[in-house]
Amino acid sequence: MGGTLLSDGMRHQYRFFAPGRVNLIGDHTDYNGGLVFPAALSMGTYLTVTERFDHFSCGFSSDNEPKAFTLCGDALTERQQAWVDYPLGVLKEFSDRGWSVEGYDFHYSGDLPIGASLSSSASIEMVTAVALNALNGEPFTMLELVQMAQHAENDFVGMNCGIMDQFASGFGQKDCAIALDCNTLEYEHVPLEMQGLKFVIANTNKKRGLVDSAYNQRRSECQQALEIIRAHRQVDCLCQLTMNQFDTVAPYLAGNVLKRARHAVRENENVREAVTALKAGAMVHFGQLMNASHTSLRDDYEVTCPELDFLAERAHQFPGVLGSRMTGAGFGGCTVTLIAEDQVEAFVETLGKVYEERFGLRADFYVAEIGDGAQEC
Ligand code: GLA
Repeated sequence: MGGTLLSDGMRHQYRFFAPGRVNLIGDHTDYNGGLVFPAALSMGTYLTVTERFDHFSCGFSSDNEPKAFTLCGDALTERQQAWVDYPLGVLKEFSDRGWSVEGYDFHYSGDLPIGASLSSSASIEMVTAVALNALNGEPFTMLELVQMAQHAENDFVGMNCGIMDQFASGFGQKDCAIALDCNTLEYEHVPLEMQGLKFVIANTNKKRGLVDSAYNQRRSECQQALEIIRAHRQVDCLCQLTMNQFDTVAPYLAGNVLKRARHAVRENENVREAVTALKAGAMVHFGQLMNASHTSLRDDYEVTCPELDFLAERAHQFPGVLGSRMTGAGFGGCTVTLIAEDQVEAFVETLGKVYEERFGLRADFYVAEIGDGAQEC
């Protein structure tokens, strides 16, 4: 481990980074045992860890949050109903396994928009996990850290997320997307050979309310579908079914439960096809699958919103655009658009203008730079 000795000659300081992610295709498939295709961004969360003079408490502060915390004893592993719950959940994972977490100041900063579907939460968890792992002599593998971070979010924060975001933040690789099978956790880094194209992220900047409860609701609808299907067919998770197999059990499902399950199965097939298309350099087809994914998330999974639909649908009509879709959990947040590089400037200008006219909100645009996973820096 690197680190520097501070001028007081007594305390060391260390710096870590964990990226956010953009999911290129495959949303709401991870917790259904399906495929996802995210890529780590060069944007993310930085963490500076400084040893404290006392060895029993921890300080937590962030450039993005007004409230700082100094906690010790049981409070270090108890919910505070605040942003600090993301790091605390990870501290608890380490402390539950008998590792030391006390005696540090944790300061967070970063360039990732917060709560915009680019995995700001997962990047806070993963940067904390990688830091605590380094400070304790690296007892855990990256996969274990990813699983601990996901568990922290599920059990401590109460968001019943799948594994995609933490995995992408941990296993990112420069200029590659990650084809991950969330059932087996087998994965492959797929080089993004862009052929003069770019992925452009557009942030709706729409304030998202109650995302966690709407998300958990979708998850439980998928679980209900799975239980009904299991009465007729042996299956471990929804994404084990092909669309043809799903058609044979669909008559047992109805209403939202039918729609949610149909999306999961269809989206999983979209990802499989998209990964093949990307490897073959068939970018037009990749773009078509992105569009199909958006439609399915809009009509069957019902996790888009007028702002996301507007950005994606306007993008579909724009010259040089091959595909556009919402990315991440939805209900707000971002779209990702595959577009010819020489059209990016006009796209950002035009779409930004019509979006602001329509919603009175300013969208932020980022040309995605794909970077490496969580590490000391
Ligand atoms: C959030 C969750 C992920 C995944 C996506 C939707 O980002 O954290 O686990 O379910 O939504 O694909």
